[in-house]
Amino acid sequence: MVSPGKNMKILVTGGAGFIGANFLNLLVPRHPEHLFVNLDALTYAANPRSLAGLEGRANYAFVRVDLVDFEAVRATFAKHQPEVVVHFAAESHVDRSIAGPRPFLRTNIEGTFNLLEACREAWKPGQGLLHHVSTDEVYGSLGAEGLFTEETKYDPSSPYSASKAASDHLVRAWGRTFGIPVKITNCSNNYGPLQFPEKLIPLMIQNLLERKPLPVYGKGENVRDWLFVGDHCEAIWTVVLRGKPGETYNIGGRSEQRNIDVVKQLCAIVAQETGASETELFGLVTYVKDRPGHDLRYAIDASKIERELGWQPQETFASGMRKTVRWYLGNQDWVASVRTGEYRKWIEQNYGSR
Ligand code: NAD
Ligand code: DAU
Repeated sequence: MVSPGKNMKILVTGGAGFIGANFLNLLVPRHPEHLFVNLDALTYAANPRSLAGLEGRANYAFVRVDLVDFEAVRATFAKHQPEVVVHFAAESHVDRSIAGPRPFLRTNIEGTFNLLEACREAWKPGQGLLHHVSTDEVYGSLGAEGLFTEETKYDPSSPYSASKAASDHLVRAWGRTFGIPVKITNCSNNYGPLQFPEKLIPLMIQNLLERKPLPVYGKGENVRDWLFVGDHCEAIWTVVLRGKPGETYNIGGRSEQRNIDVVKQLCAIVAQETGASETELFGLVTYVKDRPGHDLRYAIDASKIERELGWQPQETFASGMRKTVRWYLGNQDWVASVRTGEYRKWIEQNYGSR
C-alpha cells in the first residue's frame, strides 16, 4: 500500500507521450523525495523533447523498453524495484486503430498483461500499487441524455476502445485473483500542450496556422467532454495517493462540446492571437466522411472523485483552449520535430541502443 509522505519509487509507463509527459513535468520537480522512472518504447507518439526540462534531475530516469518485450519489463523491475506503477503507455488514436488494429491489441492488451505479470512477480499479494490510466470510451456511446458513471456497462465501439476495455478487465482480474492493489481511472478527452497533432484540437490548430482545410467528420455534431491535461494529471496523482485500491474513478471536465463548436472556438482564438480573419479561418472547415462506428456523445459523471477525494478541475474550457493555442504558437519547433523523418532518425541514433 502507498503511504503518502514516504519516499516512493514510481514507474511511469508511456511518460514520453502526451499525458505521461505532462504528468512527469508536473510531478518530478514537485516531488524530489520520489524517484520517477519513465518506461517508454518511444513510438511515433512520443517525443523526448517533451521531457527536456527533467534531464539531469536526480529523481528522474528514462528507460527505452517496449511493454510487449516481457524480459525487458522484468529487467526494469529488477533494476528499479518500483513500489508504484502508473500505466499510461498505450496506442491511443482511434483512427489509427481503425486503419490497423494490431499494434493496439499488442500494446494495450499484451503490454498491460506483461506489466501485470511483472507486478505479480515483484510484489507479494497486497504490496505495491498499479494505477491504470484508462478512457471513457470503454463505455461506448451516449444518446442525447445521461452521463457515464463508474457503474455504466462496458460497450466499446472501436478497436482502440475494445483494447482499452480488455486492459481494464485484465487489471481488475489481476487485482481480484492475485491480490495486486489496483486502481483504474477512466477519463474523457484531454487537450493541452504536448499533444501529437493527429488528435482533433492540435490538428485543427496546426491546420489553421498553415491555412489547410479543417476536416470535420460527418456533420460535426458528435459531442466530447473536454478536460485540460493538467487537471487530468492532478486527478491521477490524487487517486494514486488517496484513492481506494480496487476502486474505479471517472474523471471529466463537465465541459461537453460539439466538434464543430470546438473548431469554431479555435478559429476565434487563433484569429485573436494572430490577427487573422476569423471568417476566413472558419471558411477552412471541410465536412468529410464520418469515422466508422463514430460514438455520438461522451459525458462523464465525475461526482465520485469530487466527493470522495476532493478533486475538481481548475481550468475552464475557454482558459484551457487559450493556453493550448498559445503553447502551439510558441512551440512550432516541437511540432516540426514530431512530424519529420529527421526526428525518427534522431530517436534511433540517440535511443536505438538503450
Ligand atoms: P500518446 O499516444 O500521446 O502516448 C502514448 C505513449 O505510450 C507514447 O510515449 C508511446 O511511445 C508509449 N508507448 C506506446 N506503445 C508502447 C509500448 N508497447 N511500450 C512502451 N511504451 C509504449 O497517449 P496519451 O494521449 O498520452 O494517452 C496516455 C494514456 O491515457 C493512454 O493509456 C490512453 O488510453 C489514456 N487516455 C487518453 C486520453 C486522451 O484524451 N488523450 C483520455 C483518456 C485516457
Ligand atoms: O474520450 C477519451 C479519448 O479521447 C481517449 O481515450 C483517446 O485516446 C483520445 O484519442 C480521444 O479519442 P477521440 O476519438 O474522441 O479523439 P479525437 O481527437 O481523435 O477526436 C475527437 C472528435 O473529433 C471525435 O468525435 C472525432 C472528431 N474528429 C477527429 C479528427 C482527428 C474530426 O472531426 N476530425 C478529425 O480530423
